[in-house]
Amino acid sequence: MEVGVYYSEEVLEEVRSKNDIVEVIGSYVRLQKKGASYFGLCPFHNEKSPSFSVSPSKQMYYCFGCGAGGNVFTFLQQYENYSFQEAVKVLADRAGVQLPETEMTAADKQRESRRMQLLEVSREAAKYFYYQLRMPQGKDGLAYLQGRALTEETIHKWGLGYSNKTSNDLVQYLHQKGYKDDLIMEAGLATFDERYGMHDKFWNRVMFPIQDSNHRVIGFGGRVMGDGKPKYLNSPETPIFDKSRNLFGLNFARSSRKNQFILCEGYMDVITMHQAGFTQAVASLGTAFTSGQANLLRRYADEVLLAYDSDEAGIKAALRAIGILKEVGLTGKVLHFDPHKDPDEFIKTEGAEAFQKRIDEAENSFLFEIRILQRDYSMSDPESKTKFFREVAKKLCLFSEDLERNNYMEAVARKFGIGFDELKSLVRSYATQTGLAKPLERPKSGIHQKNTPEESIKRSQRLLITWIANEPAIYEKIKKYISATDFTEPLYSEVADKLFREIEAGEMNLAAMVSQFTEEEQQKEVAALFNTELEALEEDTAGREQAFHDILYAVKKNSYEYFSANLGSDVSALEKVINGKQALEELSRTHISLES
Ligand code: GTP
Ligand code: MN
Repeated sequence: MEVGVYYSEEVLEEVRSKNDIVEVIGSYVRLQKKGASYFGLCPFHNEKSPSFSVSPSKQMYYCFGCGAGGNVFTFLQQYENYSFQEAVKVLADRAGVQLPETEMTAADKQRESRRMQLLEVSREAAKYFYYQLRMPQGKDGLAYLQGRALTEETIHKWGLGYSNKTSNDLVQYLHQKGYKDDLIMEAGLATFDERYGMHDKFWNRVMFPIQDSNHRVIGFGGRVMGDGKPKYLNSPETPIFDKSRNLFGLNFARSSRKNQFILCEGYMDVITMHQAGFTQAVASLGTAFTSGQANLLRRYADEVLLAYDSDEAGIKAALRAIGILKEVGLTGKVLHFDPHKDPDEFIKTEGAEAFQKRIDEAENSFLFEIRILQRDYSMSDPESKTKFFREVAKKLCLFSEDLERNNYMEAVARKFGIGFDELKSLVRSYATQTGLAKPLERPKSGIHQKNTPEESIKRSQRLLITWIANEPAIYEKIKKYISATDFTEPLYSEVADKLFREIEAGEMNLAAMVSQFTEEEQQKEVAALFNTELEALEEDTAGREQAFHDILYAVKKNSYEYFSANLGSDVSALEKVINGKQALEELSRTHISLES
C-alpha cells in the first residue's frame, strides 16, 4: 500500500472527514449505541457477543476481541478487500468529493484505465455467455448443467454460461460493442492466428466466470460437455487475473460467517457445495494453492478444511496446503469423502446431512501427516517400525507448547499402537539432542498479551497514549516530564511525536493519523493505541489520578533506565539521562490533578 503517492493528505482528509465512520460501518454491521461508542458483532472474526466498537469522536473502529482496528479507509480495505486507492475512490464517490486526477502519474493512470477496460470486456463476455446458455444454440450447455443437478437459481447465481460452437462469435459481438482486438486478446478471450484471424478461446464449453472477492469477473473456466480434452480450459493470467491471489467462490464464501473455509480444486465442487448450503467453499484456480491465497483466507476465518481428491495427487496437494496454512497461522483439517471421489459426487449421492457429518469428522492435519508418513514404513518389521516412530518423535518436537505436544502424543499413541510413555521418552531424547521448538511469533494485536516486563512497559506506554488521546488537555500539565523519546517502542514514539505536535497546534486528529502509517499491521497497532481499555476510568478522581500517575511514572522510569543502559558515547543520551533522573524525582513528589 502506498499512502500519499496518489493523493495529497489534504484530499485524503477531506474524503475521510466527509465519511462518518458510524454511517459507513453501520451499512455493513448492525451497531448499537453504548455510552460514547457504538458496538456490534465483529465482521473480522466469529463472535457471539459484540466486542467490535466504533467511536464517533475518534472516527475509528477497534475490536477488543481480535484487535482489528483503524479508520474508515482501513475498514473498507479489510472488509471489501480493497486497495487503499480503491477505498479512497469509493468513499470519495459516496461523499461526492471530486478526486484530483492529476495526482496519479501518467503511467499509473494508464495502467488503471487498462485494468478498468479489461474488467469491462470480461463482464461483457460473461454476459454474452450467460445469454447464449438461454438461447436455442445453448440448449446442450443448459442440459449439461441441469444434468449435473444444478438448479436454475444456482446457474443464475454463479452467472454460468455457454460458449458457442462458432469460432469467432464472441469476438464479433465484442467488436460490435466497440472493443478492440488488442484488449480482447489481453483479456484472454481470443487469440490471433495467421490463417484464421481472430478467434475465440472458448468453443462449445459451459462457462464458469471467475470473480474476485468483489464480484468482478476476472477470468473464465470452460468445461467440455463430454470427455474431450482438456476437460477444463482456463483463462490465462492477465493484469486483472492473478491466479495466486484469487479464489473461486470467495466472493460468496467470505460472508458465510462460518469462521471456516472448505478448500477444494473444482469449480463444480464449489458450486455444488454452495447449493447444498455449504457456502464456505472455495477453490484454487487450476493451479496449486499459494500463500497469497492463504493470506486472503486468513482475513475471514481461522480454519480451512481441505477437500482434495483422495488420489496420490490429492494427498500431495493436501500435504503442501497444510504447510502453507500453518505458515500463515491457519488451522488445517482434512476432509474425507470415501467411497466417493470428490465433494460434488459425495453430496449428490449421500446428501447434505452426511456431508455435514464428514465436516464434523474432519481429520486433524498433524494426524493426517503421520498417517501418510506411516505408509512408507512396515509396521510388522521392528526396524522399520522404530524408524517410523523416530520420525514421529521428531515431528512432535516441533510443538512448542507442552500441553499441545502432550495431547498429540496421546493421540498418536492411541492411533498408532505405541505406549504413551515410550513415545514420550523417544520425544524427550530427541528434544535433548535438538531442542524443542521455540514458540511462534504471532502478529501482535495489542491485546491478550503475556505479562513479561517488556509487555508491561509497552502496556504502560500504550495506556499513556490512549489517556492523552482521550483527554488531550492533560498534555499541558505533563509535557515538562514527558516527550516522544520517552516511548522506547519505536512505533509508539512516532505516534506520540505526531500526537504531541497536533495537541500543541490545537488540531488533534486521531483517525487521520492512522493513514499516515503505511503498513496494515502498523495501522492496526496505531488504532489499538488509541483504543486501549482504560479500566481506571471507572474509578473515582483519586483513583484515576493515582492510576495516571503510576502510568506516567512507569513510562518515565523505563525511559530513564533504557537511556542509562544504552549511554555509550552519545552526549544527547547523557543529557536525557540527567534530565530523566530529575524529572523522575520531581514526578515522584508531584501531584497531577486530572480536574480541568
Ligand atoms: P468435473 O466434476 O469433472 O467437472 O471436474 P471437477 O470439478 O471434479 O474437477 P477436476 O478435479 O477434474 O479438476 C479440478 C480443477 O482443475 C478444475 O476446476 C480446473 O480448474 C482444473 N482442471 C481440470 N482439468 C483441467 C485441464 O484439463 N486443464 C487445465 N488447465 N485445468 C484443469
Ligand atoms: Mn468432479
